[in-house]
Amino acid sequence: MRTEETRPVRLEDYRPPDWLVETVELDVSLDPKATRVRAALTLRPGANGAAPAPLVLDGDGLVLKSLVLDGAELPAEQYVASADRLTIAQPPPRAFRLEIETEIDPSANTQLMGLYRSGRIYCTQCEAEGFRRITYFPDRPDVMAVYTTRIEADKTDAPVLLANGNMTEAGDVPGTGRHFAVWHDPFRKPSYLFALVGGTLACVEDRFCTMSGRDVVLRIYVEPGKEDRCVHAMDSLKRAMRWDETVFGREYDLDIFMIVAVSDFNMGAMENKGLNIFNDKYVLASPETATDGDYDRIEAIIAHEYFHNWTGNRITCRDWFQLCLKEGLTVFRDQEFSADERSRAVERIGNVRGLRAHQFVEDAGPLAHPVRPALYHEINNFYTATVYEKGAEVVRMLKTLLGPEKFRNGMDLYFARHDGEAATVEQFVQCFADASGTDLGQFMRWYSQAGTPEVVAAGRYDPRAKTYRLEVHQNVPPTPGQPNKEPMVIPLALGLVGRDGRDLPLALADGRVLERGVLTVSKPSETFEFTDIGAAPVPSLNRGFSAPIKLVANLTADDLRFLAARDSDPFNRWQAVQTLATRLLVDNVAALRAGGMVRKDLGLLDALAAIVADGSLDPDFMALVLTPPGEADIAREIGRDVDPDAIFSARAALRAAIGEHLAGALFDHYRRLSEAGPYRPDPASAARRTLRNTCLDLLVATRRPDAVSLAARQYQVADNMTDRTAALAALSLRDVPERAAALDDFYARYRDDPLIIDKWFSLQAIIPEPTTLDRVKALTAHPAFSFANPNRVRSLISVFAMGNQKEFNRADGLGYDFVVETVLALDPKNPQVAARLLSALKSWRVLEPRRRALAQAALRRVAAASALSPDVNDIVVRTLGESGTA
Ligand code: PHE
Ligand code: ZN
Repeated sequence: MRTEETRPVRLEDYRPPDWLVETVELDVSLDPKATRVRAALTLRPGANGAAPAPLVLDGDGLVLKSLVLDGAELPAEQYVASADRLTIAQPPPRAFRLEIETEIDPSANTQLMGLYRSGRIYCTQCEAEGFRRITYFPDRPDVMAVYTTRIEADKTDAPVLLANGNMTEAGDVPGTGRHFAVWHDPFRKPSYLFALVGGTLACVEDRFCTMSGRDVVLRIYVEPGKEDRCVHAMDSLKRAMRWDETVFGREYDLDIFMIVAVSDFNMGAMENKGLNIFNDKYVLASPETATDGDYDRIEAIIAHEYFHNWTGNRITCRDWFQLCLKEGLTVFRDQEFSADERSRAVERIGNVRGLRAHQFVEDAGPLAHPVRPALYHEINNFYTATVYEKGAEVVRMLKTLLGPEKFRNGMDLYFARHDGEAATVEQFVQCFADASGTDLGQFMRWYSQAGTPEVVAAGRYDPRAKTYRLEVHQNVPPTPGQPNKEPMVIPLALGLVGRDGRDLPLALADGRVLERGVLTVSKPSETFEFTDIGAAPVPSLNRGFSAPIKLVANLTADDLRFLAARDSDPFNRWQAVQTLATRLLVDNVAALRAGGMVRKDLGLLDALAAIVADGSLDPDFMALVLTPPGEADIAREIGRDVDPDAIFSARAALRAAIGEHLAGALFDHYRRLSEAGPYRPDPASAARRTLRNTCLDLLVATRRPDAVSLAARQYQVADNMTDRTAALAALSLRDVPERAAALDDFYARYRDDPLIIDKWFSLQAIIPEPTTLDRVKALTAHPAFSFANPNRVRSLISVFAMGNQKEFNRADGLGYDFVVETVLALDPKNPQVAARLLSALKSWRVLEPRRRALAQAALRRVAAASALSPDVNDIVVRTLGESGTA
């Protein structure tokens, strides 16, 4: 672990590298405790033009064994080697070859960065700065080199040896029980995309013929015995490859594409060139083991990592400040893929729900940062909802502003202009400016200004002039380090909906026409006047969530019910119901806190009744409309003095009211949607299950005995994991006698499958009852639990901290204490997972005073602990916001 005081890295300090690496030849001799790494680098001076600079290579926990320059051992006085740096003060002022030998211990690597062991498999994780834990290297993404990797290992311990690129040689090491393989990757790449794998792995193989007729071998490697759970991942991969050809004209470039699934992984997956490494949770699926949600996420993540081959690998990032250049863009691409493969409206609503639940919360708290940060202490902490999800929204806004053709032209230009380079956000946006002839100067603020813009829109119809005036005001709230903000360019897609539900033609009074129904708002206050409007319309604003803003519009409850029933934009139909429900919930939370009763809003219930009776709606869309805003959404709306108990109660009461009011229709849907025949994971069947299980959940929320026994029965007879876990969730969230038996049964059925037992941990972690904290603590001692495996920690403890607002925020503060103790215990072993868990406390400032004080005290205990990792230290300092620098 690095213990020295870390200084911030600033975007403005970027300098091109003094030394470039042309080629890397790695020779890795795998051994569980003593892996020998020989790296031969061909180095040449960078284009800085200045006098030859010292050569400074990054390291992290390394031990140097030998150092050879141009064939001769380098005398000790000519270099300095420490665990985290290798410096040659006066290297030759020309190209030279440096051979570095280090020894590392993969078994002792609990951070899961660099070379480590997952079970008996050797694997690597190098993003962002893990390569320096393997060998000394200029470990920065703008140093791109051609890699050749020789791996050697015991034949029985690691029969399969993989690295990036194509295999060029393999064989036995004569006279030993060892063998080797050599892999060559012809594409220049940054060190963070390096990967190697060794172990006993089974593989499924398929082929893909690219648009230009090249044949590519596709392989998915998994633990032996799990081959039959790769069908969906392989199918998703092939569909993703075809989609990228069709929609973006991008073709795969190597002769082989490999995916390896491992059980110990800090994140979801990693796009290493030609050798993606995945958390096995996002590969393995069968009807008996995975839910529809799992199938959906697997498809999206397989596609995401594959899409990185062009957006991330062929064109990479100049420095880590540009992280959104690959992540935001690639999330946008995987969202579009899912929208094309599934239901566009449902995908969009799901993405926006995720954005609001995570990114809006981040943007409103102490960890807020721009999509492209200007400063960081620890880059690992910037793999955030802002960089990923808001980063994707920014790309989507470019498309909305320019239209699909010019957007595609901009993308084509980006690929043509920057292929093989390490690029910046400016270069990316410039391609769209050049391809469309648009000035995108003001648009760059989406990358530099943090905070969610607040937009207030007020419309007024003038019956005599037959005009509709829309006044729009925008404000970007202050965020850490950014007290004052400039106005943003906001693409506001809108429609003026006439009484018959049809959109009125949009003509602006000043003669401008609205392209594709999008208003471009760019000033703090603006008025738009539409002419020739025959009767008072209802405005449908920010259709499709065209901009990631918080919108307040002067719509009455009647207007919202009208939009819920009639808007041609499905997103805003859903949004109208959400807005109605949010208003009611916020009122009811206030009433409960004042000692009053919750109100049943028949207007909302009637709007929902109309939705469930609308036979033209897709079932999964209907399910989304029936799902009230989450507790975090309500908390965000309230914004200060938050009482999680009152929020929970108000929401639970609303769900029960929906279940009661609509019971007849919900039971009808439930019966109508029962599937004949065996489970199929296709989107249409999944959509029916989603609605059916949503109906079940709302019915069980009423605690009606007939609903509870329906859930118990579904649990027993289910032939797939989706229906079984949905029934178990409906039962386990409520204090009903059927719960304990169902939970025991579930464990007994699936005890040998850790990924399924993760669901069992999560379901228990979200039980909204005071005994849950003790239950979670007890489960940490369960034989199926392990602090060393990130999936276990996330399923039990992160789900408790982030998914159980009520019990994590217990009024006695014991939820905070537990999480903070876990963070401190985990930090020495896996700082990345510890830091992420700690970020569950990021909204502490908006809590009511008692909880706020308890959360702050817990955070201060972390801050006071000795020998914190840079990861946890960075999060705690920023979360407390007490250090002056943000
Ligand atoms: N780059 C990975 C992605 O596709 C995420 C990741 C980051 C994985 C860091 C591991 C470590 O989003
Ligand atoms: Zn990514």
